[in-house]
This record gives sequence, C-alpha cells and structure tokens, in this order.
Amino acid sequence: MIDIHTHILPCIDDGAGSADVSLKMLKIQAEQGVKTVVFTPHYYGKKYSPERFLEVRKTAFEKIQKDAERLGLEFRMGAEIYFSAEKIASNRALCSLAIEGTKYVLIELPLQSVWSNALWNRLSDFICESGYTPIIAHVDRYAEIHKNPRYLSMLADMGCLLQVNTASFLQQKERKLVLRMLKKGLVHCLGTDSHNLSNRAPDYATAKAFFGEIGETARFEKIQENMQWILNGQIVTVGEYSPIKKFMGMYY
Ligand SMILES: [Fe+2]
Repeated sequence: MIDIHTHILPCIDDGAGSADVSLKMLKIQAEQGVKTVVFTPHYYGKKYSPERFLEVRKTAFEKIQKDAERLGLEFRMGAEIYFSAEKIASNRALCSLAIEGTKYVLIELPLQSVWSNALWNRLSDFICESGYTPIIAHVDRYAEIHKNPRYLSMLADMGCLLQVNTASFLQQKERKLVLRMLKKGLVHCLGTDSHNLSNRAPDYATAKAFFGEIGETARFEKIQENMQWILNGQIVTVGEYSPIKKFMGMYY
C-alpha cells in the first residue's frame, strides 16, 4: 500500500513531535502492510519560503533516516501545500514542493472558510501556468464540500485528483460522503494523514479491511495503482465520474 499523505517527519509541523514518535509511526505503517510513505509536512507560505522549507524538511528527515531505512519502506518527499487566494510564492517555486520525482502537488484548501472566486481562479492559474497536477488533500474534511458536494466535480473538471483520508471510511459521520464519492468515481488517492500515535495514528490496515467488508477491494486496488502511477511519474487522469448532489442532508 502507498500512503500519499502523512505528517510523520519529526518536529516540522503539528505531526510527530520527536524522532521516537516518527519511528514508531513508521513501524506501525510497515506492520500494517504499507510499502511506500510519502512525507507531506504542512507548507505555509507565510512561515517559510519554499527554499527554506526544503532545508528544514531535509534536516527533519536526517533525524530519522538511519533508523527509518532499516524498516524496509520506500520514502518519498513531498509537502501539503496550503493554498489560499493570496499568492505568496510563485507557481514555479511551489512546484519545487511536488511529490519527489513527479509533477503532482498535494494541495490543501481552506478547511472552514468560504472558497472565493479568487481561490478558484488562483487554483486554475496554478494548473494552467505550471502544468502540474494538484492532488486535493483530504477532500472529506472541507466545510465547503460538505455544504456543496458539487465542488468535487468542479475540482475534477479542472483536472485535480482527489485524496480521501483513510479515517473517513472508519467514522460513521464522514462515511456517508466518502462512500458516495467512491461509488461515483471521485476517490483517486488515499492517505492516512497520520499525525501521531493516539487520535491520528496510522490506520491503513483497518481501512483496507473495511474496503474488503463492503466488497470494494477492486476499487481499493485501483486507487493503489493510481498512486503507484503517480509515483512512477506516469499520467493519472481523473477518469469517469458523476457529480454528487446533497438533498435533505443526504448525498446522492
Ligand atoms: Fe495533512
């Protein structure tokens, strides 16, 4: 399995707070059958320049590198790039934060605030100017998506791939939306978005088992294949999908 969204690198964001925690998280990943971990610490343009972020990320990895490499996992560097209407770094500079060896960038949109036209334009401008493909992080977590799930198809129409957190398949509240997304062809990538060893610990094995229980192993494998292609630098397209509508609090 491939985990395309993690906060396992130590002391760089709100994820693992020490090298010890990082290594324990990686050990859990290996035990659960994860083969490749993409390190995607939060990138906030107001905190670091892309250049400085790359230095800090390198230092964080060096703290665990020797021990981590004994676990038999493959690692890739990346970032979860916070994207707002405000353009702080150039599109070109943001591309330096792409998933290592690829032209895919993991992008986080505002979680609670309204997605303005300026934000949509900024995203569209990034795609047109850079030629890189955004993977929208944890689409299951945005207030705007829960209010208006048609935004999922708007993102897909723009060519964005959609990443869902494994935890959302395991929580009653989130499950309604993500299961509908799965059936409608709107889940392209999975990630644990794991931050720690407690409330946001790696949970890939449980999510995989859930896909099996609901008879969706084939879709699970297809999502893994998508992510392998992404890491190979191959082209992954959005594919066929249908829009999701919300009516009386239910998703259709
Ligand atoms: Fe994250």
